[in-house]
Amino acid sequence: MNKVTITYEGSQVSCDPDKSILENLITQDIDVTYSCQKGSCLTCVMKTDHDVDPKSRAPLKPTLVEQGYFLGCQQKPNDGMVINAADQIGVFHNVRVTNIELRGGQVAIVRLTVPDGYEYRPGQFVNIIGPNYTLRSYSIASIPLDDELEIHVKEHEFGTVSRWLCDKSLIGQEIEISEPEGQCFYLPGRSSSPLLLIGTGTGLAPLIGIIRDALSQGHDGKIELYHGAVNDDGLYLIDELQSLSSEYDNLSVHLGVLNKGSLNHTLEGAINDIALSQHHDLTGWRVFLCGDPDMVKKTKTKAYLADAALSDILADPFDIQDVKN
Ligand code: FES
Repeated sequence: MNKVTITYEGSQVSCDPDKSILENLITQDIDVTYSCQKGSCLTCVMKTDHDVDPKSRAPLKPTLVEQGYFLGCQQKPNDGMVINAADQIGVFHNVRVTNIELRGGQVAIVRLTVPDGYEYRPGQFVNIIGPNYTLRSYSIASIPLDDELEIHVKEHEFGTVSRWLCDKSLIGQEIEISEPEGQCFYLPGRSSSPLLLIGTGTGLAPLIGIIRDALSQGHDGKIELYHGAVNDDGLYLIDELQSLSSEYDNLSVHLGVLNKGSLNHTLEGAINDIALSQHHDLTGWRVFLCGDPDMVKKTKTKAYLADAALSDILADPFDIQDVKN
């Protein structure tokens, strides 16, 4: 029988073309994660840039498919395929801190150089290695057209990593970031469908990236952004958001605070409640939620009850309270 050769995790593997990639790896004692071998458990997720059988992607979320993921147990090997295991894709890159800009309520906009060949989707997040090898995640606010990678950091009194990232003496130094992760990003297509984005605090970072990404890809449907905070100090990038909404007729920006202060044009109340009170029917909407985990959880349910499709509700997959310090 003719064999085919694939590259798995950098090593060449000779495969039986009639068996799945997973089965070939298992029979050759190659370390691989799997369980059901029937396309149900999703533990055998792998990644490739090559064409694969749509069946091997059918159970996966569109955002995973977009990144090249497929199920190894549902795909036969094709000669020359290059494959990586999903759980071993993350490598760290050295990047330089080019700027740290402090904004009002203890938020720092941190800009980093972009590693060569680094491919990311605005709204994904990176893990950053801080002092004493402490790992924290930060969402990406920039878009690939930008020269630099941008993250937003809320400084916490006892947050070792956040205080380190907000300290301007870090400018010019090298730090380590992971490959981008996460599924909360804009998918091209359906350019006329409306987008609802709700975020609190530095949950604005992924949302602004997603909006700029959608606009740069010609999204002409309605885009409604709701950004909330406890008080005025927690709102930032107000001028930038207003200038973006004057440039694009389809973008509306709504700001809200729990405790009304002196800022004009802010609404009073929980921003998710304000947003959903203005949008009762989310049929056909894509909904992006970032920020406080409780807010994200509750709003997910409410958006679903307002008839948004589950696959159209995207949220940061990590606990923001944990990772933003
Ligand atoms: S092993 Fe369960 S989906 Fe592939």
